[in-house]
Amino acid sequence: MYTYRFTTASQRETEELGERFSAYLDPGTVVAMYGDLGAGKTAFTRGVLRGLGYDCTVSSPTFAIVNEYRGGRLDLAHFDMYRISSEDELYGTGFYDYLDGTMTVFMEWSENVPFAVDEDAVKVRIEHGEGDIRIIEIDFQKEIEI
Ligand SMILES: Nc1ncnc2c1ncn2[C@@H]1O[C@H](COP(=O)(O)OP(=O)(O)OP(=O)(O)O)[C@@H](O)[C@H]1O
Ligand SMILES: [Mg+2]
Repeated sequence: MYTYRFTTASQRETEELGERFSAYLDPGTVVAMYGDLGAGKTAFTRGVLRGLGYDCTVSSPTFAIVNEYRGGRLDLAHFDMYRISSEDELYGTGFYDYLDGTMTVFMEWSENVPFAVDEDAVKVRIEHGEGDIRIIEIDFQKEIEI
């Protein structure tokens, strides 16, 4: 596992980072995102989706729990675990059905579902710096250049 560290100074920069990172994703990759409210998890995911060829509105699926995006370079399931706190609840969302290796899975609020995060999952940790600064750490199995 390699750890990469980035600093962004605006939502746009975080989206652009996600866009560049999307090139390294494969079907079946699970990306566990960590970070407070307003950290930029959705912004990062929006950039990833743009990089995969999706031209649509992307917001946190806080109430829907999961939004599916199909037809781009990869099919992607975008989860928001904000309201999930038990394995039963997670099971009820259909989460485990998405791990069949055909979908790329992004999860906001992975803090809430540690039992669902495999050791080999990609981790994206976003921390607030001063003002609009965000420190973004990515644990990834591969060497990447972004
Ligand atoms: N460097 C930055 N990167 C990303 N977002 C930033 C940055 N600076 C400021 N922002 C602002 O922070 C907010 C990030 O929102 P976003 O919805 O991506 O966060 P989130 O981590 O998904 O939060 P939530 O847990 O509520 O879903 C936006 O309002 C955005 O404009
Ligand atoms: Mg969000």
